[in-house]
This record gives sequence, C-alpha cells and structure tokens, in this order.
Amino acid sequence: MTCPLILPYMEKVLRYVPILLLTLLLYIFLRRRNRRDPSKRHNKLPPGSMGWPYVGETLQLYSQDPNVFFATKQRRYGEIFKTHILGCRCVMLASPEAARFVLVTRAHLFKPTYPKSKENLIGPSALFFHQGAYHVRLRKLVQGFMSPESVRNLVTDIEAIAVSALDSWAGGQVINTYQEMKKFSFEVGILAIFGHLEAGYREELRKNYAIVERGYNSFPTKIPGTPYKKALQARKRLSEILSKIIRERKEKRSTGKELLGCLLNSKDDKGEILTEEQIADNLIGVLFAAQDTTASVITWILKYLHDYPKLLEAVKAEQKAIYWSNEEGNHPLTWTQTRQMPITYGVVLESLRMASIISFTFREAVADVEYKGYLIPKGWKVLPLFRNIHHNPDFFSNPQKFDPSRFETAPKPYTFMPFGSGVHACPGNELAKLEMLVMTHHLVTKIRWEVVGSQSGIQYSPFPVPLHGLPARFWRESSD
Ligand code: HEM
Repeated sequence: MTCPLILPYMEKVLRYVPILLLTLLLYIFLRRRNRRDPSKRHNKLPPGSMGWPYVGETLQLYSQDPNVFFATKQRRYGEIFKTHILGCRCVMLASPEAARFVLVTRAHLFKPTYPKSKENLIGPSALFFHQGAYHVRLRKLVQGFMSPESVRNLVTDIEAIAVSALDSWAGGQVINTYQEMKKFSFEVGILAIFGHLEAGYREELRKNYAIVERGYNSFPTKIPGTPYKKALQARKRLSEILSKIIRERKEKRSTGKELLGCLLNSKDDKGEILTEEQIADNLIGVLFAAQDTTASVITWILKYLHDYPKLLEAVKAEQKAIYWSNEEGNHPLTWTQTRQMPITYGVVLESLRMASIISFTFREAVADVEYKGYLIPKGWKVLPLFRNIHHNPDFFSNPQKFDPSRFETAPKPYTFMPFGSGVHACPGNELAKLEMLVMTHHLVTKIRWEVVGSQSGIQYSPFPVPLHGLPARFWRESSD
C-alpha cells in the first residue's frame, strides 16, 4: 500500500513523467546520431556545404543546370567536396586520381548504388547492380559478346539498319533526330541481343519497353494509372515475352553467338546455368544501357557537324573516299574500313567529351575510407564527376571549343572516361562507337540535313540532348 502522505508528491512527479521521458528519448537519439555522424567524430570530412536539414542542396541542384551546380562547387571547394542531395550525403570527386581511386584501385570499397524503384524496373539481377562473383561472371559473358572480335560480325547488319532509317527520313519532313536515333539504337540493341528476331516480337518488346522507359524517371508509386505503375506492368509483360522467346529458342536448339545464346549456354564452375529471371534482367539491362546513351551521342554528332561546316567537309571527304572505294556504296562497309576513319573517329571522341552525356556515376562507400586525408564515411554516396574532368582546362585546353584534333594525341590517363573505368566500365563501347561511325558514313555520303528552329540549348531526357531532340530535315544529296 502507498502512504497517503506521499501521494500528492507522487502526483506532481507523475505530471512530469512524459516530459522526462521525451527528454531522455531526445538525449538517446542525439547521442546515437552524433555517434553515427562522422563530423562529430573529429575526423576531417571534405569541404563543402550540406545545405538545409533533410532537403540538403537538392533545390539548388535542380534550380539550375546540374553541371553549373557541380562546376561552381568545384571552383569554390576544389576537387573533392561534400554535399547533400536527393536525401543522400555525398562526396563529389572531380580529379582523375580520385576517379581512379574509386572506380579502379579501391573499387571493392565502393559498391554500385541505384534507387530500389529503378532496380525493380530493370530487374534486380542485371549486372550493373552487383559486385563480386556474380558480377564477374555476367560481365565476362557480356564483355565477350561485345568484344571487337564479336562486334565486327555486326557491321553489315548495322549498316542495313542505318540505311533503312535514313531512307525513312530523307523526304524533307521535319523529324525529331533524337527520337529517330533511339529507334536506330534500339534496333541495333535487339540485333546484338537476339540476332534475328521475328518482327512481331520486336514490336511487342518495343511497345512495352517504351512504357518502362517512361516510368523510369517518374515518381515511384504503385497507384494504378501512374507512369510508374504502368511501367511495372509493362516490365512484367516484357518478362513474359522474353520467356516465350527463350522457350522457343531452347526447343529449336537455336542458341547462337548473340547475347541471349551466350547467357543460355553459360554454366558456372559448378555447372549451374542462369535462371530465366537472371537472363531476362540482363537482357533488359543491356538494352536499357545501350539505347538512349548511343542515340544522344549520335544526335550531338549531327549537331556539331551542322555547327562546324568545315569539319563536316573534312568528314565528308574522308567518308566519300571510302564510298568510292566501295564502288559508290555497292559493296558493304567493312570492319577494317570502320577502323580507318581518323577524322570521323576524332569527331566521335570529341562529341563524347563535349556532351559528356554521363556526367557522373554513383557509388556507395561500404566502409569508412580515407582519401588524401579526408574521410569518406561508410554509407555515403561517392560521385566521380566525369563531365568536370572532361571540361577541365588543365587536361583539355580551351575545353568549350569543339576540336576533334585534340585527340590526335591520346589524353592523359583517367582524364577521358565517357565509358567509365574499372570493373563496371562500359562493355558496349565498341558497339556504340561502331554505330556512330556507320551512321555518320551513310549520313555524310548520301544525305544533306538542316536543323530546324532554335539551334542552341540542352534538354535532359534524362541524358543531355540538343533542345527538342534536334528537329531537322533530311534530303538525299542528289534530289534537291
Ligand atoms: C555512347 C554510348 C554509351 C555510353 C556513353 C555509355 C557509358 C557507360 C558508362 C559511363 C558506364 C559505367 C557506369 C558506371 O561505372 O557506373 C556504362 C556501363 C554499362 N554499359 Fe554503357 N554506354 C554506352 C553504350 C552502351 C551500349 C551500346 C551497351 C550495350 C550494348 C552498353 C552496356 C553497358 C552495360 C551493360 C554497363 C554496365 C557494366 C557493369 O556494370 O559491369 N553501353 N556505360
């Protein structure tokens, strides 16, 4: 029993219990946060500002051109700086040594990182989400099928796709160059992945893939009718279509040297084959990595050639010489010829540098890492800034000038990384460059084009492309 004398005091004390509890909870929360917050651990974080609580500097990033945001930061803080964007604490790295550190020499300390919502659309087994043995296995397969030895067999088919695309535009009507280049790179992607594929399947894949793409950069909600939800449904249909194609190929035993064949025939050390889901995720992943990237760079090539008429003349002369040697295009382009186009190849490289369509990539530190006396805390995102490096006058003099001749001497190591570097570097780079060279050959030898409307400005789709996708008219050179 409680003494009646104490009761009034007890009541008083009890009145303060909620406040005391709240204070205690707040104390525990702050202590734990401080313990987790590396800045409270007396370690030196890189310079930079973290912006407002929760939102960080996301608004600053999106209220201007993202490249201006990063370039301004670099001017202010130097080549390594911290920020807080999109709910993530980040360390940005804008020097070749730092990019090499994260992507190559200490790659095991930095894992690839993507939002779950995006991973679900591509498929969680796609190689770019992984590190370690599974990634190595998949990468070997993808790299093998995209090596120069394999890609050289695709020249004639890529040429046929380019010619048929140009034929369909050459009537003088205004076309959205980027959208048309996307159709071209999609067809090449399908060719590389499946070899010959029935038109019905190609159309089904194209239709559903376009829906997935629309949802990829939308707000990830499962509310019916939203682009994200529609994308998830289309992704499911893509799996079903791929399942059918795989079943047919297995029944007909027609698995060849294309990517699908390589994946179907692959066995690991223990003789295990890949599951259908792993195969589907990787096919969709490769298609995804291949299409918009290549299409936006080809669109930039057209824009630069249009803006620099003297350069266009030089490229034309180089390509016409090949065209004549192939008896006015009566013989197909050969792989060897595509390797002997120095002026055009310079334009391809300079377009990759100038446009830097992949401005940066994301990794996440898997442990506390020290770099040049700074702490990169575990769990923080780490972003090597390719574009900043490609536009640094210390590595590329007069960097805003479009000057393909700068590639007559090889750039210094890790100053030119349009295809990334290290274990996750782009395995499709040979194919992408081949597409650009073949398309340019046919454009400049047979076609005249004129950009329509505003000729400057950039839009993000999500990669940077000329404004409105570069509307242009195309004519056959002889039919003025
Ligand atoms: C101009 C066109 C292209 C550009 C600029 C480009 C750029 C890149 C970059 C920068 C990466 C590395 C990303 C990172 O480290 O996080 C990458 C990875 C990748 N790319 Fe490309 N790419 C292009 C075309 C292609 C093509 C045509 C294909 C396939 C046919 C392809 C397939 C891939 C794949 C599968 C990966 C992931 C590799 C891995 O994680 O191991 N890309 N690409």
